[in-house]
Amino acid sequence: TRTLDLAVIAGDGIGPEVVAEGLKVLDAVLAGSDVAVATTPYELGAKRWHATGETLTDEDLAAIAQHEAILLGAIGDPGVPSGVLERGLLLKLRFAFDHYVNLRPSVLYPGVPTPLADPGEVDFVVVREGTEGPYVGNGGAIRVGTAAEVANEVSVNTAFGVERVVRDAFARAQARPRKKLTLVHKHNVLVHAGHLWRRTVEAVSADFPEVTVDYAHVDAATIYLVNDPSRFDVIVTDNLFGDILTDLAAAITGGIGLAASGNVNPDGEFPSMFEPVHGSAPDIAGKGIADPTATVLSVALMLEHLGMTEQAARIQEAVAADIAARIGNETTRSTTEIGDAIAARVAG
Ligand code: IPM
Ligand code: MN
Repeated sequence: TRTLDLAVIAGDGIGPEVVAEGLKVLDAVLAGSDVAVATTPYELGAKRWHATGETLTDEDLAAIAQHEAILLGAIGDPGVPSGVLERGLLLKLRFAFDHYVNLRPSVLYPGVPTPLADPGEVDFVVVREGTEGPYVGNGGAIRVGTAAEVANEVSVNTAFGVERVVRDAFARAQARPRKKLTLVHKHNVLVHAGHLWRRTVEAVSADFPEVTVDYAHVDAATIYLVNDPSRFDVIVTDNLFGDILTDLAAAITGGIGLAASGNVNPDGEFPSMFEPVHGSAPDIAGKGIADPTATVLSVALMLEHLGMTEQAARIQEAVAADIAARIGNETTRSTTEIGDAIAARVAG
C-alpha cells in the first residue's frame, strides 16, 4: 500500500464546500486500490488573516513543502483588501514552490452550454507560465495620488524561465494526437519579451520535429477562441496573457464552474498544487449550491501528474457522464449531490 500524502488548503467562501467533494471523489476512485489518501488541512485564507494578520508564514511553507501535492479550494474575501491574499498567499505558494507550469485544460464536453453558435471540437490546454511576467511584482510608483503619478508594473522574462516552460509545452504537445503548439504573445509591441519567447520557441522546436508550431498575437487569439477554438491544441504563453486567455477559455467551455487547473513544478522539487480556476464566490458561499466539478477535475489533473493516469481518466469519464446527464434536466442539484453522483460513477 502506498499513501498519497496531501496538503489541503480549503480556503475561503465556497472553497471548503467544493474541496469536500473533490476529496470524496478521490476516495471513491482509490477505493479498493492499494493507494490510501492522507490529508492534512492548512487553515489559510481570510479567517486566519483576520485573526492573526498572517497570510502564509515560513513555517506554513516548510510544512506544506513536505507533502506530495496540494489541493486548494479558493482564496479571497471581500473583507480583505485586494491583493493581500492574492499576493501573500496564492501567488506566494506558486512562487515558493516554483510552479512554473500553470496547466489549464479546456474541453467542451458534449451537451455543455456554450455561448458559441458553432464551436466544433474544443480540446486544448493552455500552458501558462507561472513564475514570471508582471506577476513578479517588479515595479513601483512615485508621486502616488498626485496628478504627476507614475505607476510601473514590469514584466520579467528570463531566458531560463521562458525556455523551461516552452520545453514543457512542447513535450505536452508531442504527447497529444494533434501535436500542435501555438505561442501566444504580442511581439509586434512587446518587442523585448516577445522576441525572447519567439526565439526560444524556434530554438526548442528543433528538439520536437513532430510538433507543428504556430503563433498568434494575444488580441487575435481572443478572436480565434470565439470564432475557431478548435484550431488550438497546446497554447504556451506568459503569466498575464495566460490568466486572461484562460478565463475566456473557461467561458466558452461551460464556464468557470468546470475549469480545472494545476500549478505544476514538473521537476518534482516541490509539491504541485491543484485548484479550480474559479474564486471563492462569497455571494453563494454557505448555500451548498456551488458546482464542485472544477475541483473534481482538478483532482483528476493531480492524479495524472502523480502518474495515476487510469484513475484520472475514470474521473474525467465520470464527469463527462455526469455532465451529459445534466442535459435537459431542469432540477438543480446541490454541491454534495453533484459530488455524490460523480463519486458513484467512478466507483462503477
Ligand atoms: C487565477 C487568478 C489569480 C491569478 C489571482 C487570484 C491572483 O485569477 O488563478 O487565474 O491572477 O493568477
Ligand atoms: Mn485568473
